[in-house]
Amino acid sequence: MPDAIVDTVASVPVAIVGAGPAGLMLAHLLGRAGVGTVVLDTRTRHEIETTHRAGILEADAARALVETGVSERILLDGHEHEGVELRFGGQPHRIDFKKLVGASVWLYPQTDVFIDLADARERDGGTVHFGVRDTEVLDITTDSPKVRWTAPDGTRHELRARYVVGADGSRSGCRDLVPEDRRTRYGKDYPFAWFGIMAEAPMSAPELVYAHSEHGFALISQRTATVQRMYFQCAPDESVDAWSDDRIWETLQARVAGEDGFRLKEGPILEKKVLRFRSFVQEPMRLGSMALAGDAAHTVPPTGARGLNLALHDVKVLAEVLLRALGSEGAAALDDYQPRALQRVWRAQNFSYWMTRLLHTAPGATPFDLRRQLGELDNAVGTRAGRTFLAEQYTGWPTADRD
Ligand code: DHB
Repeated sequence: MPDAIVDTVASVPVAIVGAGPAGLMLAHLLGRAGVGTVVLDTRTRHEIETTHRAGILEADAARALVETGVSERILLDGHEHEGVELRFGGQPHRIDFKKLVGASVWLYPQTDVFIDLADARERDGGTVHFGVRDTEVLDITTDSPKVRWTAPDGTRHELRARYVVGADGSRSGCRDLVPEDRRTRYGKDYPFAWFGIMAEAPMSAPELVYAHSEHGFALISQRTATVQRMYFQCAPDESVDAWSDDRIWETLQARVAGEDGFRLKEGPILEKKVLRFRSFVQEPMRLGSMALAGDAAHTVPPTGARGLNLALHDVKVLAEVLLRALGSEGAAALDDYQPRALQRVWRAQNFSYWMTRLLHTAPGATPFDLRRQLGELDNAVGTRAGRTFLAEQYTGWPTADRD
């Protein structure tokens, strides 16, 4: 009989809180190995699908999505980019990933990764409950953690699991379950944010353009032949209402202007949003029967597009250790999760921080600061070591790389 306080009780090997790319990819990888999961999210599928996020996948992440049967679409609708442009001092500088490190990245938006993963769960008969509320995770320090939630119809449910994974994003409730005296939080705020737009316009450049100017940073990205994604540095408390389309285009054009006469192709702006960000890590990434994955455990500033890639790397490692833990090894296998995931987390923290500092103009920057920054940019593009560093970091690190 179900407990009096819930309408249904069920059991599953792994309960996953959060149906973003981390939670759904973990469910997919476990499902392929025959392990059942239930995934819960407070957001509706429509809400997740219509929130624009980053657009760059490392080649390894793209390959994992294609080879495990999540997304054929990456190969059809995605675009392989073999390099990126850095603009500063009014001049373009191309970083040739392929030539420098033999790697590339794929432009394929996170919302499409989500759609492909949600479709794959449906196709494979996986259970995902969207739009739930009052999610509670209980007993994580025991061998029988539980998750309770209220369904959209008001009914209350309990799931008994062997392991729980908190993949509930940058405002994770799961990470708060690790008691204060057993966790460390590392964080850094930045004195700027990004103003993101979606515009109906042709592409302005064949690859992404990361621009530094004395007025601040801009990023020219893409979505399709007719829709473009662009960002520019703004104040964290900037109001969208203060920005007409004309003012936005003027700002973006000023930030990419140069001696080569480069101009952005303009068009109607379909969406405007201020995106705040911070660097954050919570350690440990696992306590007892609960592990954290993706943004729940760590967030990075968007410069360099590491966030989604890092989340996908976490769950690749986590799927492997969970399969071992559910097999003959038992919970001790989970001890391998944090050391294997965290090394990449801190590499990505460093790269995202470095690239953010390299390209943004801090409020109150002195002429010395700006001139020094141009020296750093010149080192990054004008020396082989600098270019190779950028190419290696941007395209991701080979998993086995311990040189
Ligand atoms: C995009 C976002 C990023 O943060 C980035 O570094 C590159 C591309 C994007 O949304 O396309």
